[in-house]
Amino acid sequence: MFIDTHVHLNNPQLEANFEQVINDALMVGVEKMIVVGYDLETSKKAVELANQYDFIYAAVGFHPTEIKNYTDDEYQNLELLASMPKVVAIGEVGFDFHWDTTTKEEQLTAFVRQIELAKKLKLPLIIHSRDAHQLTFETLKKHNASKVGGIMHSYSGSVEMAKEYLKMHFCLGISGPVTFKNGKNMKDVVKAIDAKYLVSETDSPYLTPEPYRGQINGPKNVLLIVEEMAKLKGISISEMAQNIKDNVKRIFGDKYE
Ligand code: NI
Repeated sequence: MFIDTHVHLNNPQLEANFEQVINDALMVGVEKMIVVGYDLETSKKAVELANQYDFIYAAVGFHPTEIKNYTDDEYQNLELLASMPKVVAIGEVGFDFHWDTTTKEEQLTAFVRQIELAKKLKLPLIIHSRDAHQLTFETLKKHNASKVGGIMHSYSGSVEMAKEYLKMHFCLGISGPVTFKNGKNMKDVVKAIDAKYLVSETDSPYLTPEPYRGQINGPKNVLLIVEEMAKLKGISISEMAQNIKDNVKRIFGDKYE
């Protein structure tokens, strides 16, 4: 019934109790999980998991803070991985100016390179944007990312900008903050935007929803996010979940069944 479109089962924090994490999610009705890479190693791991489990799909990509010493080699490997059958997206890619491990120029180069790869392989993008709303938008627009669209991961921008993203064929990833008392921004987006453009994600092991903030997040908690989304939209949980299923299918296309 539920889909977690952004989960880091490839992160050491979740690998330790892997079977338990998976089983807990299946038990509450999570049907599909998209494991998202953030560097070359975790992208490989995402593909391995997708090959191993029917209900797992992979996204591969280099997160803006992880690209420091990457050369053509890493990008060639990324392209090989992205061409595998169960790889449904390029991600997570984008900008992150909260940390300073990489410069703005390095991040821009890596981002554009991966937008071009997504267009070449006709794969949607999963976009990470932290402290960079305007530049993320401008970069996606300038490089015609609307040709592939994708998901704005854990969308934290305004309703106005959300509408601009919809025009560029992006959907909005709704995550744990929608359950937070101070999560007004994300709540407003869910209320204002048609359910046809919303998807659910946990970003586990991060962004744990209420009432479990402070604990390690797991894909089972996607249920809490869909519950809150349904409440905000004034529809049933099953109706919200069905919308999300349709949206995910539309975004990921042929490589996702
Ligand atoms: Ni993530």
